[in-house]
Order: sequence, then structure tokens, then C-alpha cells
Amino acid sequence: MFISKLVAPIATVLLCLGGANVVEAITASAFAAVQFDYIIVGGGTAGLVVAGRLSANPHIKVGVLEAGTSGLDDPIIYTPGKVGWAVGTNYDWSFMTEPQTELGNRPLFYSRGKALGGSSAINFFVWMRGNKPDYDAWASLGNPGWDFNSLIPYFKKPETFNAPSPADELAFKLDYNAADHGTTGPINTCFSNQYGGTHQFWHQTLNNLGIPSRDSFNGSNWGVWTGLTNVNPINRTRSYSASQYYRPHAARPNLHVLTEAMVQKVIIQTVGGHKTATGVIFTHGGASYTVNAASEVILSAGTIQSPQLLELSGVGNPTYLTPAGVTVLVNSPHVGENLQDRIMNVLLYELDPLVENQGPLKDPVELADAEDEYYTNHTGLLTVLPNDFAYLPLNKVMNESYVNHLRSLVSGTDDRTLSIKSKLDFNKFLGNLEYVFDPNILFAVGNPDPLKKYGTVFQMLQYPFSTGHIHIQPPPVGVPLSADQHPVINPRYFEGNGVVDMLTLAEGLKFADSIARQGPLNAAIVKREVPPEPAPGTETDWLQFVKDNTVSDWHPVGTCAMSGHGIHKGVVDEKLRVHGVKRLRVVDASIIPVQISSHLQGTVYAIAEKGADMILQDFECKRRRRRGRR
Ligand SMILES: Cc1cc2nc3c(=O)[nH]c(=O)nc-3n(C[C@H](O)[C@H](O)[C@H](O)COP(=O)(O)OP(=O)(O)OC[C@H]3O[C@@H](n4cnc5c(N)ncnc54)[C@H](O)[C@@H]3O)c2cc1C
Ligand SMILES: *[C@@H]1O[C@H](CO)[C@@H](O)[C@H](O)[C@H]1NC(C)=O
Ligand SMILES: *[C@@H]1O[C@H](CO)[C@@H](O)[C@H](O)[C@H]1NC(C)=O
Ligand SMILES: *[C@@H]1O[C@H](CO)[C@@H](O)[C@H](O)[C@H]1NC(C)=O
Ligand SMILES: *[C@@H]1O[C@H](CO)[C@@H](O)[C@H](O)[C@H]1NC(C)=O
Repeated sequence: MFISKLVAPIATVLLCLGGANVVEAITASAFAAVQFDYIIVGGGTAGLVVAGRLSANPHIKVGVLEAGTSGLDDPIIYTPGKVGWAVGTNYDWSFMTEPQTELGNRPLFYSRGKALGGSSAINFFVWMRGNKPDYDAWASLGNPGWDFNSLIPYFKKPETFNAPSPADELAFKLDYNAADHGTTGPINTCFSNQYGGTHQFWHQTLNNLGIPSRDSFNGSNWGVWTGLTNVNPINRTRSYSASQYYRPHAARPNLHVLTEAMVQKVIIQTVGGHKTATGVIFTHGGASYTVNAASEVILSAGTIQSPQLLELSGVGNPTYLTPAGVTVLVNSPHVGENLQDRIMNVLLYELDPLVENQGPLKDPVELADAEDEYYTNHTGLLTVLPNDFAYLPLNKVMNESYVNHLRSLVSGTDDRTLSIKSKLDFNKFLGNLEYVFDPNILFAVGNPDPLKKYGTVFQMLQYPFSTGHIHIQPPPVGVPLSADQHPVINPRYFEGNGVVDMLTLAEGLKFADSIARQGPLNAAIVKREVPPEPAPGTETDWLQFVKDNTVSDWHPVGTCAMSGHGIHKGVVDEKLRVHGVKRLRVVDASIIPVQISSHLQGTVYAIAEKGADMILQDFECKRRRRRGRR
């Protein structure tokens, strides 16, 4: 069958792409000599939000140290149709996990952004938020102010939502409620105006499987929907923390950003009887520097490296610090623990050769044409993103007795286990499992024939029980301990209660496969390629497939978990202040105490906006107190 190409409206504005690289050229020694109020460690998603907000006050001097290079103006970062291309490049830390016992001892590739903007520079442009109960669970773990309703202003603050044209809204089934979105924030969001050839079947196929089309931003995200993206609608480029929270402010005299600067540790001294962060040590170009922070040090190095830096600085569990040769300054047992990550399965289907897919990337001639069109007119295949989403409650995927069976396997009565168990409920309408269809090969699986076309069904588990850790390790003999050595990353997938994750994924894959077999989408599909169709009379062993093929979807959280109940419950308090250390906060995805049903960036922007507000409030209070004393 023939599936016609969906033609995009022609862009009427011709804008110049690219331009001068505006990253300020400050030397490391000049940076180290500045008397900063705040030092932000990591110019990533959250770090640059905080930097942009704090430095809006001209009286506050802000310094940002980022280990990666700038990445601003690099088409591999800003071009939507090049989604995934930066993974594994020099813009990626390219971590590896420990071999995963329950996954056939496979170590897994663990992508994390390394550039201005951090992971927001290389992520897949999905803009969304979780369910109301996801955030309400944070609040009930001792964190007042972090429930869904209190967070709504912070979900909106980063965003300027650009509504689609009525014609696009109808043609592409773009459900939205403008009231749930921001109108004046730095990050531009919009729907794509061009889609792969199978998008026209997505909603109807899921509707036929009993899943309604719904909007997903009001605290209830289950249903089938067309994804919103963090893309600038004028020139169809990535809208992210580096381009929106840093670039416009790069000339501020009170804001300095140093790239290729690796923070080695936070300096913690005893001031007035309290352990206090006073600055950081960083390396740049082979030399070591010290820089002071008069007000606070803010760790925004992400879920892997914020806890690594706490441990290198003497804050953590002696079990890990002492063997690595680190003097324990604060015994903080949860640092690096509570690692919760999203896990993913990938099914590959051969598509009808006449399906228009979005794969200009394989054919160099097609790619050159697409680049020509994109860089000239901001249209064409390089504006297309995977946008076909469904978030499903368990009751749409498996039967009630199986859900009850899974519940019976969960042991443990700690707050977090109970919180996740509360979502393993046949009667609740939450987005427990995510499904995405992409008429393309976004992840290399199987041995696809280069002359054929393929589409991918992704499945991602949203509320994992699997809980792991990241910790520093003793350096090799003769090598000094340093932040440059990758920490041990062990998500412990499917271990302990994680067995429930494994069984949920295996059961969910039956549903994933049924999507491809349901009309009208099934007309575009020739056959399943990964895993191969079972021999007649046999069934696919989904459990084995899950063990052999599950990978990380790179949404780790929890390693500097927030708990207002104190150091024996978490790493930071509800104002993101590190328990046991004054003038030190963590502001990034690591503070999330329990995983949510959502891709994370929208929530990380909200955390950073709220964090910046709390920091500014405290700054004002101190200033007033100082004035009062005078
Ligand atoms: C490949 C990929 C695809 C994704 N797709 C999506 C998506 O489509 N939608 C979505 O919502 N989410 C997505 N995510 C997740 C989301 O992007 C992240 O959860 C979020 O950006 C994390 O923000 P952060 O501020 O916690 O950390 P990051 O943005 O990773 O920032 C940490 C920064 O700290 C720097 N740093 C680390 N250590 C040091 C040090 N010692 N010294 C100096 N600097 C340091 C790093 O280089 C980095 O820039 C994706 C993630 C990845 C990796
Ligand atoms: C896209 O346009 C925005 C503003 O309209 C601009 O700030 C940005 O630099 C442009 N992107 C590129 C890569 O040129
Ligand atoms: C969100 O909107 C849907 C309709 O799309 C409605 O059914 C639901 O009750 C709303 N949820 C919340 C939490 O307001
Ligand atoms: C850009 O758009 C114009 C107007 O539609 C068209 O004539 C031209 O061929 C396009 N350029 C490219 C490179 O696609
Ligand atoms: C429920 O699902 C499980 C797992 O697929 C299956 O073994 C069982 O037979 C089903 N039970 C009913 C009552 O359909």
C-alpha cells in the first residue's frame, strides 16, 4: 500500500542558522580569581537554569564550571532530525554500568550529556510531565512544597508554548490545553509540523486497542497522544538550557562560565563549628585551581556525578569513602544510593517499502538534500521527530489476577517501596508503561537489511522497583583519586523487588507486539524482525527476550534524594540543602526521591526553577539580616 508523504507548510521566514559562538572566553586563572557568590558545578540542564535566574540579579556573582565543551551552534545538537546522533560522541560521558547479574551479565551503555546544557543538549526532545500522584509522593516522603499542585507554576515557568495551526491540529491529532502550559518562559515548545508516514495511523490503532486519545499535561498522562517537543518553531532548532538560559545572558558581567573545567571536589571547612562549603577545586588544561564561593556551592552535575562529587568531598557512607582514601567529613548514608532508572525494550518491524519513513539518515544523497532544505528553509525530514506516544495503565496491558500476583511478589515496607507498590494497582489510571512507535531505526538492534525499511516499537517501564547505586571506587595503584575516574554504576536491574520489573516488561511486550498487529497500523508492517517471528506452533519467549535485551533508557534519579526528614532518610532537605553541610545544595535530577511516569527534562527544569527561587529567597533574607545588623 502507498502511504503519502505529509507535506509541511512552507516556512515564510528565512532565518540565519548558526552564528557567532557566544561562549565567553575567560581563562581558568581569571575565573579562579573572581570573588563569586555562587559556584555552580555542572553547566547542564539544571545548572544553567539556576545560573540564568541567579545572575538576573546584577548584585549576585555567578560562576559555572562545566566539564564538556560548549556545543552551542553544533548542528548535531540543534537539529531535531539528528536526534540520537550525539549519543556516544564527545558530547557524551558514555558511562558503562557494572555487568547486570539478572541481564545475562551484560554491562549497559549509560549516556549522559557532556556539554553546555548537559543531557538537555543531546536528549530526544520529548517535553512532558508526570502524574499528579507521582509528585504528591515526593511531598509525602517529607518534602512539603513538592506536590503536583505546588509544582504547577514551576512546570510553566520555563516554557513558552507555541500552539499549532488549526490545520495541523486537525491533520496530526494534536491534543492540548493551553492553560496547562507556560507562556513566557525561555524554553520554546511546539508540535512538529511534519511527521513520518505512519503517524496518521497511530491514534486510530491505539483507539482500536481501547486506548483513548488524551491530552497529557494536567497531572494525568495516560492515553495516546502526539508528543510535544522543545523545539523553536521559527527555525526548528533545539530549545534547551544552553540556548535559552545561558546564551542570551552570556554578556552579563556578573556571570562567568568556564567550559572544559572538571570539578574535583567541594572544599568543606569547619566555620563556626559547622561543616561548610566554601569553594571548589577544579582542573582545566592539566592545571588545578581553587575558586571560592561567598554564599553557596550548587552541585548540578547530574544523577551520576553529583553523588560522586559529594563522596570525593568527604560526604557519604564510610563503607565507600574509606577504601577510596577519602576522609569522612559527614557520614551521610544515602549518598549514591537509591538509584532508580527507566528500562527499555526495543522491537523492530520490517515496514512496507512504500511507507514514507523519516530515514534520510542512511542514504547520503537523501541526507544532503534534507540538510539543504533544513538549513535553507527550516523544513523537511530533518524537522521530524519520534512523536507517537502512548502511556498505559496496567489494566490496559494485563489482567487483574496477574497484577495481584505481581503485588504479592513485592517485599519490604520502607516508604519508597510502598510508594511504588501503590502504583502497581489494577484500578489506578497511571502511565505505568510507555509505548512509542518510530518509523525508523533509532537504536541499532538485530541485523536489518540496508535495502529495507523498518519501524521500531519501544516499551519503557515508568515505576521501577529495581534500585541500585553509584559510588566512587579506589583508584588503580599509583593513580591519585580523581573525579575523572568513572564511578561504579550499578542499577541492579531486576534484582530484589526488581523481579517485578522483569515480569511487567515481559507481559507488557505482548501488548507492544499487538500494536504492530492492529489496524490500521498493521497495513504498514510486513513482519517482525526483532525478536524474529516464532516458528509456527510456538510462542515468543518474552521473558528470555527481556533478560537478553533490556537496556537503560537513561533517566536515572534518586542518588541525592530529597527528604525533609533528615540525613537518615535522604541526602538533601526539601530546600535542596545537603544534610550536614552548610552552604551546599544539589539542584538536578538526583534529588528526585522516587521515579515518576515521564521523560524527565520538564521536571528537571521545574526543580531548577524552584531551586533558583529558594536560593534567591535565602540570599535576600541574608542580605536583609546583614543590613539590619549594620
Ligand atoms: C540520550 C538521552 C536522551 C534523553 N531523552 C529525553 C527526552 O527526550 N525527554 C526528556 O524529558 N528527557 C530525556 N532525557 C533525560 C533528561 O535529559 C535528563 O534527565 C536531564 O537533562 C538531566 O538534567 P540534570 O541537570 O540532572 O543533568 P545534566 O543535564 O546531565 O547535567 C549535568 C552536567 O554536569 C556536568 N558535569 C558532571 N560532572 C562534572 C564535574 N565533575 N565538573 C564539571 N561539570 C560536570 C556534565 O557535563 C553535565 O553538563 C534523556 C537523557 C539522555 C541521556
Ligand atoms: C533559532 O532562532 C532563535 C531565535 O529565534 C535563535 O536564538 C537561535 O540562535 C536560532 N538557532 C540557530 C541554531 O541559529
Ligand atoms: C485531566 O484531564 C482529563 C481529560 O483529558 C480528565 O479526565 C482528568 O480528570 C484530568 N485530571 C486531573 C488530575 O485534573
Ligand atoms: C526553499 O523553499 C522555497 C520556497 O518554497 C523553494 O523554492 C526552495 O526550493 C526551497 N529550498 C530548498 C533547498 O529546499
Ligand atoms: C492473566 O494473565 C496471565 C499472564 O499472562 C495468564 O497466565 C493468565 O492465564 C491470565 N488469567 C486470566 C484469568 O486471564
